[in-house]
Amino acid sequence: MSIQAMPRDYSLTGVTERAVPLDDFGIESRMDGVWWKPTLPRQEMRAFMERTDGPALVHFGLWFVLLAASAAWAVFAWGTWWAIPAFLVYGTIYSSSDARWHECGHGTPFRTQWLNELFYHISSFLTWREAYMWRWSHSRHHTDTYFVGLDPEIQVQRPADLLKIVMDFLYLRSGPPEVWRVVRNAFGRPGPDVRHFMPEAERNKMYWSSRVYVAIIVGFAIWSIAIWSFLPMMFVLLPRFYGGWLHQLLGLTQHAGLGEDTYDHRENTRTVFVNPVYRYLYMNMNYHIEHHSMPMVPYHALGQFHEAVKDQMPPAYPNLWAVYKEMIPALIKQATENENYQIMRPIPKKKDRSAGTASVAAASVDSEWIEVCSVDELNENDVLRVDHGGRIFAVCRLEGEAYHATDGLCTHEYADLTDGIVFDGVIECPLHNGRFDIVSGDAVRSPACGSLQTHPVEVRGDSIFLRVRA
Ligand code: FES
Repeated sequence: MSIQAMPRDYSLTGVTERAVPLDDFGIESRMDGVWWKPTLPRQEMRAFMERTDGPALVHFGLWFVLLAASAAWAVFAWGTWWAIPAFLVYGTIYSSSDARWHECGHGTPFRTQWLNELFYHISSFLTWREAYMWRWSHSRHHTDTYFVGLDPEIQVQRPADLLKIVMDFLYLRSGPPEVWRVVRNAFGRPGPDVRHFMPEAERNKMYWSSRVYVAIIVGFAIWSIAIWSFLPMMFVLLPRFYGGWLHQLLGLTQHAGLGEDTYDHRENTRTVFVNPVYRYLYMNMNYHIEHHSMPMVPYHALGQFHEAVKDQMPPAYPNLWAVYKEMIPALIKQATENENYQIMRPIPKKKDRSAGTASVAAASVDSEWIEVCSVDELNENDVLRVDHGGRIFAVCRLEGEAYHATDGLCTHEYADLTDGIVFDGVIECPLHNGRFDIVSGDAVRSPACGSLQTHPVEVRGDSIFLRVRA
């Protein structure tokens, strides 16, 4: 039976053959799809992936100032008609915490990891996405973007539920289940879907973080009752509802009405130009094809990255109106006539400008060691893929003359680590931004959990040698 002829079952625990079995190993060991990637010379690509703290410190500093200023306005305006615009502004800024949750979840805005983690946890609470669970959910979204029964984050499922789409401008359909989910997790009772994408070892953290979320809300509720005023409750959680309109307006442009079950983000994802205010609040996620195809590019570089690869992409939509005038009829059609209908984007013909990964297929010099390349061929903070004897190795050069090697495939979902970047002694996976210490091979950022095997490297004369047998 063809996929299209079957009823769609978007749940990860469904009964159709698209559903994922209750078998974590079966899921995490599956890498049967190869996503399309834009091609650029490796050094150019590396420059876009470069990490720095400066832009994000300014960005987040301004964001907290705006949030605090709008909160102060709302307090002063409480009891007057000015409270309506004041809370609208506060709620809109507050709800844009979702974009901050997303970016920090990828670990890309800051070079310093603890800053990413700090702002990730603050933003997760504000946007009410429990931090640990949603990190795993979003990893799955990047592995299986818009694959029915595999992706837990398909925002508009077919046939399109138009009422839900409209209600979610105030987060009224998706919000209450999310609140309930955190309460459930706080009692240590996750839903069955969570068990599909989250390892057992991570769940305790999820339970405790859910308890903190619930405790904060209960604290605000007690405060409201004590002073006999609804005002404190207007500042946490509720803004995600009454101020959620912009999040929905921009979020719908990401994938709605486009393809499903394709390994090409140009067919299931959109890029649209929006005004600078929206771009700031949305942290450049309007460049969504670029983000999905290269999640290692930080938000502040996405505009320039778009310019570099736009000839490999469908044309970007010039504004939100251009998206909505195409998307609304498509969703109505999916809802009323033909759920298989989808918008087809023009895909440019392949222009292969240069391989994104430096690689060599090395020959043995004896039964243990292979010559990889000359030292000039491997720059500082860079990685070289070495294929030998059916295995893939990542040979890295850190600052100075420090050469190290690890296995070349990520222990999470077996992405090619040599497509990733090297900085501060770690190599970052291109698929879900997991990180490994290059010297020890230890996994230092989830979703990567298992360590990499390391391999001895030597410099002899001008050449780098790798030991391929333990
Ligand atoms: S494949 Fe998921 S972090 Fe590497």
